[in-house]
Amino acid sequence: MILEQIATGGCQSYLVGCSETSSAALIDPEIRQIDHYLALAARDGLRIRYLIDTHTHADHFSATRQLARQLAVPVVMHRESPAPFVDMRIGDGEMVLLGRLRLQVIYTPGHTRDSMCLLVEDSLFTGDTLLIGGTGRTDLPSGDPEALHDSLFRRVLTLDPELKIYPAHDYKGRQSSTIGQEIATNPRLQARDRDAFVDMMHNLNLSMPTHVTEALRTNMSGGKSVAQLLAEAAAKVPFMSLAELKRRVEAADGELIVLDVRERDAYETGHIPAARLLPRGQIELRVNQELPDPTRRILVCCELGHVSTLAAATLHEMGFACVVALDGGMKAWREAGYPLNSGREP
Ligand SMILES: [Fe+2]
Repeated sequence: MILEQIATGGCQSYLVGCSETSSAALIDPEIRQIDHYLALAARDGLRIRYLIDTHTHADHFSATRQLARQLAVPVVMHRESPAPFVDMRIGDGEMVLLGRLRLQVIYTPGHTRDSMCLLVEDSLFTGDTLLIGGTGRTDLPSGDPEALHDSLFRRVLTLDPELKIYPAHDYKGRQSSTIGQEIATNPRLQARDRDAFVDMMHNLNLSMPTHVTEALRTNMSGGKSVAQLLAEAAAKVPFMSLAELKRRVEAADGELIVLDVRERDAYETGHIPAARLLPRGQIELRVNQELPDPTRRILVCCELGHVSTLAAATLHEMGFACVVALDGGMKAWREAGYPLNSGREP
């Protein structure tokens, strides 16, 4: 078995490959690491055949949907997954065949209703059911401390103590542990009694993960996150640096139209000299009057550089072939002490 472990913040993803057939599965991939996974698979001579989420993640953006489209391979999740884009719904005791490897599902609800662990040879991918020195929380949607107790004490912890465990999270940079090690030292597993365990889980008082609403929305629907929309927009247009724009503004480069897509008050408080105002919300409706020549070179700016990227991509889609986005925004422009005009332009 070939195993690559990829950490993104506290999230862990795994590329598991069969060394004989070169087929591989990617477990719990995160959206920002797509290029990294593909590069690792290429380096190891592996072909990704399955994209597996151990459960519906509330704290990171799953890459399964996007990679499934890119690679034309199935998304695998437990039958209880609410996501409509799952291609292979799998249940307890069933297996995914990966060349000579067998990935066996152990259904372990509790952290979420669709949580499962995957047993492959001497390794158990535990998702958020069992972490190193911890367990998954049970206070997020579909969490259930009673079910987690049963999944841990009746299933996972009855397996071979020598099994290596690979969790979906570790915030301390540890890579793996064993079942035996966790039974002996994991503080969450010391309350073996069901009521005491449930009581402990109810009283953890954990703060909500960041982006929980957006992560659940995108992971359950297959929709895109804001960061994905921005990355896709940024891939469509070229950028110009603040310093290069300043040089052109000072040289009174009449070739370049600077288009400020903020609202009027922000624009009138301070804008790049000679910039024109066309708020983001009005672009599609007013573009024909404001920018009749689609061959003109247009630079789009906004306050932080995000909305202008989206606006530049929209203009590009509308046929403005020479549109450029500013790498940065008016906030950075002001902080750099670059020239500003206020009020309306003549
Ligand atoms: Fe989770």
